[in-house]
Amino acid sequence: MKENAPAKKGLRETIAEMNAMIADKMSKIRFKIPVMSGKGGVGKSFITVNVAVGLASKGKRVAIFDADFHGPSVAKMLNLVDEIPAISSKGIIPVEGPMGVKVISLDMLLEEKDAPTIWRGPLKTNVIRQLLAEVEWGELDYLLIDLPPGTGDEPLSIAQLIPSLTGIIMVTIPSGVSEHVVKKAIVFAEKLKVPIIGIVENMSYFKCPNCGEVYYLLGKGAGERLTKKYGLRLLGKIPLDPYASLSCDEGTPIVLKENCDTSRIILEVVDKLINVVEQAGSDRRV
Ligand SMILES: Nc1ncnc2c1ncn2[C@@H]1O[C@H](COP(=O)(O)OP(=O)(O)O)[C@@H](O)[C@H]1O
Ligand SMILES: [Mg+2]
Repeated sequence: MKENAPAKKGLRETIAEMNAMIADKMSKIRFKIPVMSGKGGVGKSFITVNVAVGLASKGKRVAIFDADFHGPSVAKMLNLVDEIPAISSKGIIPVEGPMGVKVISLDMLLEEKDAPTIWRGPLKTNVIRQLLAEVEWGELDYLLIDLPPGTGDEPLSIAQLIPSLTGIIMVTIPSGVSEHVVKKAIVFAEKLKVPIIGIVENMSYFKCPNCGEVYYLLGKGAGERLTKKYGLRLLGKIPLDPYASLSCDEGTPIVLKENCDTSRIILEVVDKLINVVEQAGSDRRV
């Protein structure tokens, strides 16, 4: 060994250093909010994207961390799939989407867009740690974290790596099956002592654009039943809207659409969210 060779850092030292970087970066962000559900396909990514853009339209400084490595959707929903984050001396610079919302998604960092990410738990935790340590978000009001379905490695890593989480937005659809699975996510949050800001019931109903009649296509009431059972807030009920799906495919968030009921309802959810978290301040009791 050369006499003056720098000492090689051990794994533990590297992890401690990264955790300190995460703490520093997170201290510049007022509210850190994961969007979660036990269930897949209920609209977590749709809600993350539209709430983020809605917050930004009200003057908030907002970013999204897409932590769904196996099914990243945020970049697609914001038309950012082909954007490549820049690397500076400060770290990885997020890409900017509509209303200046900053975004980091694995989708943007992979060379092969169509290749599946085949990773086991510890690798996912390390990638989440590294991204949280190295992405230069700057000063933010809100960081929304889009999670994959379930109660696996990603939500667990996020809860452990960001102890200052403000609280979770829990998403369900109105069906009994969704209710059954979302219960597990609620208990998961309780066990990890992460507050739940409230529940959003997505795809609640379909209102016929011609006759105005309301149809409950995916069942009814899961949102209310869950809020009652666990003493939680209902942040809102978002209708099933064909344009909501189309807007995701096109990368143009529906929340920016004018004269649109769905957009108005999402903005009401945004107002409720702002009221709840900004009144609670930094003491985490949401
Ligand atoms: N309220 C809604 N009305 C119509 N389509 C919706 C609605 N919410 C979500 N979608 C669509 O449903 C699909 C699943 O939503 P997504 O946000 O990807 O779910 P998750 O992230 O929970 O897996 C997407 O194609 C999305 O565009
Ligand atoms: Mg998703």
